[in-house]
Amino acid sequence: MGTPLDSSAAALRHIAVIMDGNGRWAKQRHLPRYEGHRRGLQVARAMVRACAERHIPYLTLFAFSSENWRRPAVEINALLTLFGEAATLLSEEMVNNGVRVVFIGERTRFPVKLQRTMTNMETVTAGGKTLNLTIAVSYSGRWDIVQAAAAIASNGGDFTEDNFNLHLATTDAPPVDLLIRTGNEQRISNFMLWQAAYAELYFSEKLWPDFEKTDFYSAIDDFSGRERRFGDVGKAC
Ligand code: FPP
Repeated sequence: MGTPLDSSAAALRHIAVIMDGNGRWAKQRHLPRYEGHRRGLQVARAMVRACAERHIPYLTLFAFSSENWRRPAVEINALLTLFGEAATLLSEEMVNNGVRVVFIGERTRFPVKLQRTMTNMETVTAGGKTLNLTIAVSYSGRWDIVQAAAAIASNGGDFTEDNFNLHLATTDAPPVDLLIRTGNEQRISNFMLWQAAYAELYFSEKLWPDFEKTDFYSAIDDFSGRERRFGDVGKAC
């Protein structure tokens, strides 16, 4: 993080997505909630391809929040199983497509086997040059800020913005330019609180499993029409 702010609307380097609506999608079909998550994983794969096609170098997906631990055990277990399967089965696809995968969040809360699977995916994809895919698991924006502050305090470092940028979980990524949330809710839900300080927000009424590449491209087109001022005066002034 910490790269200079760019007032050009065309500079779209980092998209972050709150993939909301899996549970409702499943409920509408009288399916268990995890079927919505399964379908949601396929949509996430499609968005990874879409980012690569549009030459967007950073994509961050909110796959499991710190607050999601409050969900029923059956849903948590289904999600953890899905993460493990995805990390195992999709590693080769990510390598072939030049995708570098990084997991951020409090991963020590996950079973050790899943932690190893995540680390393995990070290791095998580390050489990816096309797209940096960050998957946020057991993540929250407040957790990230607190862990960065704790790390700075333990090193005796300075509490400056630059130093925070260096200690946040997303330290390798530029600030979020576009934050997309699906599922017809208009809130940030404790995601990327620091990183999305100047992000353009885009809310879609569609449930995540129904979100298509064309919807993703619409969000990008909408972003292109926005004037980003970063606190400065606009072009019209
Ligand atoms: C929010 O919808 C979604 C989640 C908590 C899980 C997201 C996980 C995936 C899309 C699959 C895995 C993806 C990757 C990239 C590993 P919700 O369950 O809160 O939906 P609702 O608001 O309709 O109940």
